[in-house]
Amino acid sequence: MKILLDETRIGHGIDELAAKLNKDYAGRSLTIVSIMTGSLIMLADLIRRLEMPVRISLIQASSYRGTTESGDLTIQDQMMLDISDRDVLLIDDIFDTGKTLVEVTKRLNSLGPKSIKTAVFLNKSGTSQVDATPDYVVFHIPNAFVVGYGLDYQDLYRNLPFVAVLEESDIAQHSVL
Ligand code: IMP
Ligand code: MG
Repeated sequence: MKILLDETRIGHGIDELAAKLNKDYAGRSLTIVSIMTGSLIMLADLIRRLEMPVRISLIQASSYRGTTESGDLTIQDQMMLDISDRDVLLIDDIFDTGKTLVEVTKRLNSLGPKSIKTAVFLNKSGTSQVDATPDYVVFHIPNAFVVGYGLDYQDLYRNLPFVAVLEESDIAQHSVL
């Protein structure tokens, strides 16, 4: 596996995002809606660096069906907090085609938040199929399939403390896990 972002670099990236949010949302409270399971690690690292009062709301949105191809999106929001009249920050692991973030933003907007912004850990270059772009991006990466720091391949590798490019040989090895 080729390491793209190591632990130290990721730590600095999250520090920078937290500093921006602490400035942009100073004196307000923030309701974070985090898309499971990919944003789990980023969420845990980020919220411990935030200084404003924070509410955490988890939803699940899955578009990948055990392959590296994009499929239909299903959103599960049974664990959603009431976001009406709240400042909302929607967090996801990666902006690839952008369809997940656009669809979930649409859904959240119908619940009457005061404001809604989006933050992603990674933004892949050249893969977007939507007009929107995330408001906050921790790292821009080239168009490759990556795992680690929450990102998975068939629900594995999320626990890697770094981000690595998944190569053909890794996938072959994966089939015996
Ligand atoms: P989008 O709707 O195409 O932007 O896809 C976003 C979702 O696809 C993310 O939440 C990830 O779960 C998944 N995804 C896209 N690219 C990758 C990748 O390189 N590694 C792992 N998951 C990915
Ligand atoms: Mg995901």
